[in-house]
Amino acid sequence: MSTIVVLASGRGSNFLAIHQAIQRGELNTEITAVISDQPNAGVLTQAKKVGIPPFAIPIPLQYERLSLLEKRQAHEELLLHQIKKLNPQFLVLAGYMKILTAHFIEKFRCDRGYTRLVNIHPSLLPAFPGIRAYAQAYRYGVKVTGATVHLVEAKIDSGPICAQEVFSIENCRSEEEVEQLGLTVEHRLYPRTLKWLLKEKFKFETRAGGRISVCPN
Ligand code: GRF
Repeated sequence: MSTIVVLASGRGSNFLAIHQAIQRGELNTEITAVISDQPNAGVLTQAKKVGIPPFAIPIPLQYERLSLLEKRQAHEELLLHQIKKLNPQFLVLAGYMKILTAHFIEKFRCDRGYTRLVNIHPSLLPAFPGIRAYAQAYRYGVKVTGATVHLVEAKIDSGPICAQEVFSIENCRSEEEVEQLGLTVEHRLYPRTLKWLLKEKFKFETRAGGRISVCPN
């Protein structure tokens, strides 16, 4: 059976949505671990509660004297050490707040050319990359926004798009309201997308400019 490892930094509502989809029999995989760079992250408490091994792998204090890139790479070696032992089919990012280096990402590239690393981003990419994307959308004044599930490449929030869902924010009066609507969308979009993605029977087509589109078969 396929296995996944979830990498997350925050409260873990997407992790929980994926876990619940598995419990309901809607997604045929097993989460073998949840790894967080934040020892106090809610996601680790959630994992423990539902019986999935939680691992806290923060940046060790002695790494602080290193340069930013060296620090990232050294931290990623710690992550890779743990992930290698678990040998998941896919690494699932769910609110992981650290930038991953190209070196780390390449470790997950498979023979078919894509990375077995998937992420959910809270906007309709390529609009609003980066942090606090729901707030960005609200402040910009757009009428619709959404969520995107994409494979991970070295350029931030830029990998091949697997699935997107749109929702109207015309009636929202705060960033929080947008986020609330968005999370509901994410919680069905992520498990739904993983369902066909993990079968790895999807098609991907190269478009002009080298962009890749991924679609269920
Ligand atoms: C979600 O909005 C996700 O799209 C983004 O980070 C947030 C994580 O939320 N990448 P949670 O920890 O899953 O509740």
